[in-house]
Amino acid sequence: MRKNRVNKGFCLILSMLLAATVLGCSTSEKTEISSDSAISEESTENVSDSDGEVSDVSETSDVSDAEKESEEVIVLKEGFAKNNPGCRIGCAATFDELSDPKVFDIVTTHFDCVTFGNELKPDCLFGYSNSNCPGIEEGEVDGQVIEVPKMSFKRAENMLEKLYKWNEANPDNKVMVRGHVLVWHSQTPEWFFHEGYNKRNPYVDKDTMNLRLEWYIKTVLTHFTGPDSKYKDMFYGWDVVNEAVSDNTGSYRTDAENPNEMLERNTHNNNSSWWKVYGSNEYIINAFKYANKYAPESLELYYNDYNECNIKKQNGIVELLSAVKAEEGDPGVGTRINAMGMQGHYGMEDPNYTAVQWAIETYSAVGVDVQITEMDMTASSDYDGTEEAKIDEYEKQRKRYNLLNFAIQSAKSEPGVNFTGLTFWGTVDQYSWLQSRSDVGGGNKSGLPCVPLLFDENYEPKPCFYVFAGE
Ligand code: GLA
Repeated sequence: MRKNRVNKGFCLILSMLLAATVLGCSTSEKTEISSDSAISEESTENVSDSDGEVSDVSETSDVSDAEKESEEVIVLKEGFAKNNPGCRIGCAATFDELSDPKVFDIVTTHFDCVTFGNELKPDCLFGYSNSNCPGIEEGEVDGQVIEVPKMSFKRAENMLEKLYKWNEANPDNKVMVRGHVLVWHSQTPEWFFHEGYNKRNPYVDKDTMNLRLEWYIKTVLTHFTGPDSKYKDMFYGWDVVNEAVSDNTGSYRTDAENPNEMLERNTHNNNSSWWKVYGSNEYIINAFKYANKYAPESLELYYNDYNECNIKKQNGIVELLSAVKAEEGDPGVGTRINAMGMQGHYGMEDPNYTAVQWAIETYSAVGVDVQITEMDMTASSDYDGTEEAKIDEYEKQRKRYNLLNFAIQSAKSEPGVNFTGLTFWGTVDQYSWLQSRSDVGGGNKSGLPCVPLLFDENYEPKPCFYVFAGE
């Protein structure tokens, strides 16, 4: 394998020179965008439609509105499928985004799957009661009755109901759902790790946390994908663990990633209370064991992370994936992991497209499928957010997405690579998380508006849309 990869490195350099010639791309590198964001639903829901005049790319053409109306709509998922058979193309949408009829139309027209931006995360499922446990009731797990926090499924169910009705009425045009995410250091209330579910009490021990972890995974997966769930056939996969590898060390994320982040905060952005309780990857292995125990066999199970092309972190992710795979057993026994989710929060130049190709091949070599799960793009460092600059920025973005698609297609042509999904983190630019400065790493660093996605503020496809629409 090592020898083969040396030849491959030579090939990659050649393809890089070829691509640089053909596509006029920049090959300089910048640090990747950290996406360790823990934007609670409130802040995400504060997004407001852009009510400013937005020059739409199509307005520069001489196509009249009437002609535009009559123009055949190029359907992204149909074009994408021609070059990517068996690969899903999706987007993320929050409760508010899916309540916008124009976004709902984009989701159901152009994508075959959707990831709920916040509504299946622990903080939402605990009713955003982040400072105090929302109430305690009895729960049953592993033959034991334990005290468990009250859960609230209504926001996710509201979104699922909308898509359920669409799927029922459009059986040939269904939109499937990716569950996101069971175990994460962020957007998980701190009280969940303490005795009595009160963060002023000591942390619980590993045995207690294992019962809570199993109960949580059992409850969520059974509620949504269990035999009695109306929505059970809508889910194709679930992110079991998110962002458990450290950007600092390249090993597992600990409770000391950011010394300035107090562990007693209501929720965390960098430090992991999972690690605080376990001090090892035991919670990760157990999360995949419990998910395998309670998930239908048809539901795929994933690990998901960002800065996935950074070599130091990539080695840590490979270690994690290998450790989970090593515990795989018969159906329902041991762990099960189907794919690595590369989040794909990229900059205009970094990571280099060859690093993306390399990462897809590296994770595939562990023996899992690979997906890009949260793709978007921060703006050029010199983009000033003005209308005049937008057309150039759209063209830079088109070229950059073209290179990234080139990397995906190149990796897919390698033996042993099974690339099964490409999901964008949003639909229309104005709702992107990158429009707001999150209070953690990642998010909008410039304070200027970004244009990260495939559709503009007028809900119209941008030039980069056509890269993936196979045009
Ligand atoms: C991370 C999480 C996502 C989302 C993004 C930013 O990548 O996995 O759920 O919070 O940050 O919006």
